[in-house]
Amino acid sequence: GKVAVLMGGRSSEREVSLMSGRGVLAALQSRGVNAHAFDPAEQGLDQLKVQGFDRCFIALHGRYGEDGTVQGALELLGIPYTGSGVMASSIAMDKIMTKRIWRFEGLPTPDWRLVASAEETRAALAVLGAPMIVKPARDGSSIGLTKVTTAEECARAYELAARYDDEVLCEEFIAGDETTCPVLGAEAGAHALPVIRIVAPEGNYDYQNKYFTDTTQYHCPSGLPEAEEAEIRRIVVKAYRTLGCRGWARADIMIRASDRKPFLLEINTSPGMTGHSLVPMAARASGVSYEDLCLGLLGSATL
Ligand code: DAL
Ligand code: MG
Repeated sequence: GKVAVLMGGRSSEREVSLMSGRGVLAALQSRGVNAHAFDPAEQGLDQLKVQGFDRCFIALHGRYGEDGTVQGALELLGIPYTGSGVMASSIAMDKIMTKRIWRFEGLPTPDWRLVASAEETRAALAVLGAPMIVKPARDGSSIGLTKVTTAEECARAYELAARYDDEVLCEEFIAGDETTCPVLGAEAGAHALPVIRIVAPEGNYDYQNKYFTDTTQYHCPSGLPEAEEAEIRRIVVKAYRTLGCRGWARADIMIRASDRKPFLLEINTSPGMTGHSLVPMAARASGVSYEDLCLGLLGSATL
């Protein structure tokens, strides 16, 4: 078979996707897979058929890649692909839809408001309290995200987020431990990998500290009490199943310092696979190499 590693794309996370895609491509090739890079920003997806690809590894992040659009095109083309299907991809890309479903299902997620202006952002701050996170509803890698503490900061934060999305989300800030946890598999077979605890410089796990600095510390094993680790793994599997995810994903969770309660922030259905990335780190901690992880994911590709 001939495998396309989809990378690049048109979202604000294009550069991250190129790093993920190059890693995945090299790993698959090192195991003898006939894999090739494919950038949907440069070639139409119909070219996959023309060029004889029969399987896709999706290493795209953000809109037009992680959000169900590419998944829908691949369904139409009849080419199996890694990760979640159309609906789960498109819900998970939208943090507001995700939170509505999780809350309905009784899963813990920070309180939020959907806002459409700087004025509504200030009103949200008054309700949610300071500090508060302002971010685009459908983006990733902390792009367009601001932590605001005063009403004066709200207009700038709103305008920045609105540059990336017409839907802007204000979210209660949970002070505490930042963690993330991958889930692999489908339906009853879905299971969590070990939790990773992230300690970023000055508590700021932003775009720069996600991909380009070496000062962010990652703890896996997490060092959390066993019961907390188990609880996180339980809720991320439930969060994943509730949205109908399959293949793989990575949920981000904050543990509130005051009472150690975990809160789900979001779930990434096409998580980063760069050298700094977290799913490979958790896989390694459970004895699975980067190459074996990529091969396993490719093997789970489906329609
Ligand atoms: N959105 C980035 C790629 C991640 O969650 O890993
Ligand atoms: Mg994300």
